Amino acid sequence: MFMLIRLLYILPLFHLIHTFPSKQPLCHDDESSALLHFKESFIINNSASSDPDAYPRVRSWRLEGENSDCCSWDGVDCDEDTGHVIGLDLSSSCLYGSINSNSTLFRLVHLQSLNLAYNHFNYSQIPSQLGNLSRLTYLNLSSSMFSGQIPFEVSKLSQLSSLDLCCNYDLFSDKYFLQFNELSLTSLVGNLTRIENLDLSGVNIFSTVPNIFANLSNLRTLYLHDCGMHGQFPPGIFKLPNLRVLDVKYNQDLTGSWPDFQYWSSRLKELDLGRTSFTGELPASMGNFGSLIGLDIVDCNFSGSIPSSIGNLTNLIYLRLSNNILVGNIPSSIGNLIQLTFLDLGHNQLSGPIPFGLLNLTQLTMINLGYNQLTGPIPFGLMNLTQLNILALVGNVFQGQFPMSIINLKSLNLLDISDNYLSGILSICNMTSLHILDVSNNYFSGSIPQCLNNMVQGSKLRMISLRGNKLQGLLPRSLANCSMLEAIDVSNNQFNDTFPSWLGNLPNLKLILLQFNKFYGQILESPETNYHFCNLQILDLSNNKFTGKLPLNPFRNWNALKLVNESHLTYIHAEISSIVGIYYMSYYFTYKMKITNKGLDMAYDEVLEIFRVIDVSSNRFVGEIPDFIGDLKGLRMLNLSNNFLTGHIPPSLGNLTMLESLDLSQNRLSGEIPSQLTQLTFLELFNVSHNHLTGFIPQGKQFDTFENSSFEGNSGLCGNPLSKKCWISDPSSLSPSPSISEQNQDFPGSLFEFGWKIVLVGYGFGLIVGMIIGNTMATRKHVYWLMMTFGLRQRLR
Ligand SMILES: *[C@@H]1O[C@H](CO)[C@@H](O)[C@H](O)[C@H]1NC(C)=O
Ligand SMILES: *[C@@H]1O[C@H](CO)[C@@H](O)[C@H](O)[C@H]1NC(C)=O
Ligand SMILES: *[C@@H]1O[C@H](CO)[C@@H](O)[C@H](O)[C@H]1NC(C)=O
Ligand SMILES: *[C@@H]1O[C@H](CO)[C@@H](O)[C@H](O)[C@H]1NC(C)=O
Ligand SMILES: *[C@@H]1O[C@H](CO)[C@@H](O)[C@H](O)[C@H]1NC(C)=O
Ligand SMILES: *[C@@H]1O[C@H](CO)[C@@H](O)[C@H](O)[C@H]1NC(C)=O
Ligand SMILES: *[C@@H]1O[C@H](CO)[C@@H](O)[C@H](O)[C@H]1NC(C)=O
Ligand SMILES: *[C@@H]1O[C@H](CO)[C@@H](O)[C@H](O)[C@H]1NC(C)=O
Ligand SMILES: *[C@@H]1O[C@H](CO)[C@@H](O)[C@H](O)[C@H]1NC(C)=O
Ligand SMILES: *[C@@H]1O[C@H](CO)[C@@H](O)[C@H](O)[C@H]1NC(C)=O
Ligand SMILES: *[C@@H]1O[C@H](CO)[C@@H](O)[C@H](O)[C@H]1NC(C)=O
Ligand SMILES: *[C@@H]1O[C@H](CO)[C@@H](O)[C@H](O)[C@H]1NC(C)=O
Repeated sequence: MFMLIRLLYILPLFHLIHTFPSKQPLCHDDESSALLHFKESFIINNSASSDPDAYPRVRSWRLEGENSDCCSWDGVDCDEDTGHVIGLDLSSSCLYGSINSNSTLFRLVHLQSLNLAYNHFNYSQIPSQLGNLSRLTYLNLSSSMFSGQIPFEVSKLSQLSSLDLCCNYDLFSDKYFLQFNELSLTSLVGNLTRIENLDLSGVNIFSTVPNIFANLSNLRTLYLHDCGMHGQFPPGIFKLPNLRVLDVKYNQDLTGSWPDFQYWSSRLKELDLGRTSFTGELPASMGNFGSLIGLDIVDCNFSGSIPSSIGNLTNLIYLRLSNNILVGNIPSSIGNLIQLTFLDLGHNQLSGPIPFGLLNLTQLTMINLGYNQLTGPIPFGLMNLTQLNILALVGNVFQGQFPMSIINLKSLNLLDISDNYLSGILSICNMTSLHILDVSNNYFSGSIPQCLNNMVQGSKLRMISLRGNKLQGLLPRSLANCSMLEAIDVSNNQFNDTFPSWLGNLPNLKLILLQFNKFYGQILESPETNYHFCNLQILDLSNNKFTGKLPLNPFRNWNALKLVNESHLTYIHAEISSIVGIYYMSYYFTYKMKITNKGLDMAYDEVLEIFRVIDVSSNRFVGEIPDFIGDLKGLRMLNLSNNFLTGHIPPSLGNLTMLESLDLSQNRLSGEIPSQLTQLTFLELFNVSHNHLTGFIPQGKQFDTFENSSFEGNSGLCGNPLSKKCWISDPSSLSPSPSISEQNQDFPGSLFEFGWKIVLVGYGFGLIVGMIIGNTMATRKHVYWLMMTFGLRQRLR
């Protein structure tokens, strides 16, 4: 991420052209003192500019010495003839403080260009005196932490050709933002007859888009991203003769339709209607937009089929039609779009095969066709798309042998073919660049070949999911060389192997999911085996044939300190970004986890980094639950049920204060339920049924919420909620537990007979939750929107 930001910043950004006149004009005294007073009204604060390249330009401003001429000061531009200050560029200058109405800035009445972007004006209002700087043609207040109503007086700036008020929004609160009322907006637009570039993104406008926008005949770029605008979008805006960029993304209540004009060709280069309520079909006249290089209509309500005239948009570099209701085949004319780099048609109802034309598009770095009803085989010709970074074909009806060599494509980072009907032998030996491989829920079968060269090159792998296939035999040992590996999910297969303790040295491994296989044997913890697993946080071994003692030792090192700060919750994720030409995109991939039981569903769309889960249920573990289990701080879920565990329930379990669910049912535990368990205030699910427990059931706190089923099948237990009262001591009630003989069956279904049981069904990899495609010309904005999208998804959804 950080790398990405840095990379992008080297791209050319707007700055004032500073010319060096032969004769140095002397700066006017009143202007240099106004500048100095302006400088002094701020604190220089390096964290005030959210730009890594920021530096305080005003630091060099002084009246003494060689640099006393204000026209030579950094960021100051003077008129060659008159010596008046006409340009001030203090963008990214670490200024912190507010601009008052009496600020000396407003004495610089000759200003034509003012850029204060990327500073921190402490949520103050934009002063109405700005309207006095009537010569301004360029005004840039983006990302500068102004808030409140934009003053009516701004509409007096009728000379403006460029106005940028983007991104004045505090990411961490919903409190601070700029606002425009409809009247101010209308008079602004009415007066800005010369405007070429207008950016009001992130300003809360909450009105309709005034029709007079369609009068701004000089408009070249219009950004109204996330303004809360609603109503019908005026179609006339599409016809503005000079318009090149139109971005109205994230105005969920903005309606409209694709501009269906005959005998007219648009010169728009970028069109972003994403996440609005635009509806209707994409007309055949879509081919009139032949200048488009970027088209994004993600998450609108467009329906009908994709017209084959889309093949006329031969300048397209990115095309994103995902999350609509598009039907029919992918037109083969798509093969004409030979510049295409990003293609996202996911989450529609497209059917038919992958068109051959697609295989012509050798510039493609990203293909997402996920969640459609596409059929047929995956064409081998995809091998020709050697630039591919991301190939997501998840959730379709693809069938037949998967051309496995695609895995070996030299630049492929992410391959997601999960939820299809694909078959074949899975070989991961030659993959070189994959970070994420998800082939879950298909028909891959047989053993995975062990690799001769130990797949040394495959070491970029971070997540692998083979879940829900028919794979058998041994796990590929070469995975031990994948030092970046964070997650491995092989559940619901037929692997017949011992526990992969050879993964224990992988420093980043966080999830191991092995449930529903035929894993067997003891899990040895002697120092000779490389059983360290220092970062493991989710371990699911359930429904296998493991024997021996509980494998809990590695978790003793869980660092409790790490868990203290929950304010910066992050999800286990992988992010893949790439830049092609002026575009970049970023994929954000998370794990998904669902915990379901009879009464209650707990679904985790993302797995928090702080999440700790151990599920070893339905195996053949023996022995006692060790006392040190109380050291496994941060544990949220512990399921030891349906094993052959004996001994007492350790009172130290009461130290696991984060526990939300604890299942010890169907074992041979004896003794009393320790009263310390009442300290577990987050405990929602608790089950000790079908053991040999005796004595009082602890009372109070969470224990008042548990029902009979949590305790039944322990003939020696008494007290609420059981009907058996503790003062009755009736020896005949000590009959053997009926459940023991039915334990440890291979089929989990039968377990539902006994009260509830936590069944972890939905572990696995998450979907792609986010993708950003952007134009690096507006880099900072897109970094901002990246943060918006992932930091504030609630607001944007
Ligand atoms: C610097 O600015 C940040 C806001 O970006 C603020 O929280 C902090 O208090 C400021 N520090 C000083 C010394 O003004
Ligand atoms: C920023 O605003 C707060 C609250 O209005 C105020 O207390 C603080 O002094 C201001 N800081 C600066 C540097 O202006
Ligand atoms: C501007 O006005 C504020 C009070 O509103 C005052 O504290 C400050 O000294 C004034 N600054 C100048 C430069 O006059
Ligand atoms: C600035 O504009 C205000 C009204 O917005 C006006 O009252 C004031 O006289 C103007 N000041 C100058 C110096 O022009
Ligand atoms: C405003 O300034 C920022 C920072 O210099 C720049 O990234 C942005 O492109 C500018 N906006 C316009 C419309 O020039
Ligand atoms: C231009 O702005 C002035 C005041 O700022 C306003 O009164 C006037 O109505 C605006 N003109 C148009 C055409 O909206
Ligand atoms: C698409 O291009 C073809 C050939 O260049 C042309 O005949 C056709 O009219 C175009 N269609 C549209 C809708 O522009
Ligand atoms: C693919 O490209 C070839 C040659 O560049 C061209 O002849 C063919 O028509 C293209 N196919 C499609 C379906 O666009
Ligand atoms: C892939 O490329 C090879 C040679 O570059 C070519 O012979 C083959 O026809 C291409 N396959 C497809 C499906 O385009
Ligand atoms: C992997 O590469 C080796 C040699 O480079 C080759 O023999 C083997 O067929 C390849 N396997 C796959 C599945 O591509
Ligand atoms: C697992 O593999 C072992 C040895 O390879 C074999 O003896 C055993 O029968 C297999 N078990 C199952 C359930 O396939
Ligand atoms: C944990 O539990 C044990 C037994 O209940 C107790 O001795 C110990 O002090 C507790 N606290 C910690 C922090 O381990």
